[in-house]
Amino acid sequence: MADGAARRPRRRHLGADPAAWDEAYRAGDFARLHGLGEAPRYGIIAAWLRHLVPDGGTVLDAGCGEGALFRHVVGERPSLTYIGFDLSAVALETAARMIGTADAARARLRRAGLADYRPAPEDPPYDAIVLTEVLSYSADSITWLDRYRRWLAPEGVMVATLQVPRRPDSGAHGPFNALRAALDGPAWTVLDSADLTSPRGGNAWVLRVFR
Ligand SMILES: C[S@@+](CC[C@H](N)C(=O)[O-])C[C@H]1O[C@@H](n2cnc3c(N)ncnc32)[C@H](O)[C@@H]1O
Repeated sequence: MADGAARRPRRRHLGADPAAWDEAYRAGDFARLHGLGEAPRYGIIAAWLRHLVPDGGTVLDAGCGEGALFRHVVGERPSLTYIGFDLSAVALETAARMIGTADAARARLRRAGLADYRPAPEDPPYDAIVLTEVLSYSADSITWLDRYRRWLAPEGVMVATLQVPRRPDSGAHGPFNALRAALDGPAWTVLDSADLTSPRGGNAWVLRVFR
């Protein structure tokens, strides 16, 4: 086996399968999301939320994984309430440990899927709903955004980011093209957009903030 093939992690089919995500998180496949290579993506999200989410606001992190949004963005704004949900119980356990007891009172973590998530009765309207690197895994995900919009505060915003698919046969092309088409249409108002490339890591993302 060539060196590169030996080092390359086995490609998992993840989709919306909680067991597959649990296995991937146990294997540390997504630990990189906390690292330097993802900091520019979170830097843009942080800048948008600084402008658009008032102190005392509530941020919903849909598909929160291990809570990297809290680490990179919400942690430094102690007045914000953070609600994260994800399919993976393993990722949520890591998120809870990372958030820690000092911030536990302002953080709620829930196990749920994008297709059937509902706010809890005690939740305030959300000032921001962040869907970062989660929409690629379900073919219909972009059609669900309209349901999420109903849970926004009057000046609330949604943030979506999608990695530009690397392989021509990637299933991520569907959601990627659907998001761009939806946000180019009349149903949404795009407040800002960024196209980000990371030559060092070989990644590229589209980021949009909209309502
Ligand atoms: C690439 S990780 C991104 C995690 C986090 N948003 C970030 O950017 O650091 C994708 C996450 O989306 C979650 N996910 C995928 N499909 C989902 C779905 N249908 N509902 C809820 N979570 C989902 C996975 O469990 C995983 O934690």
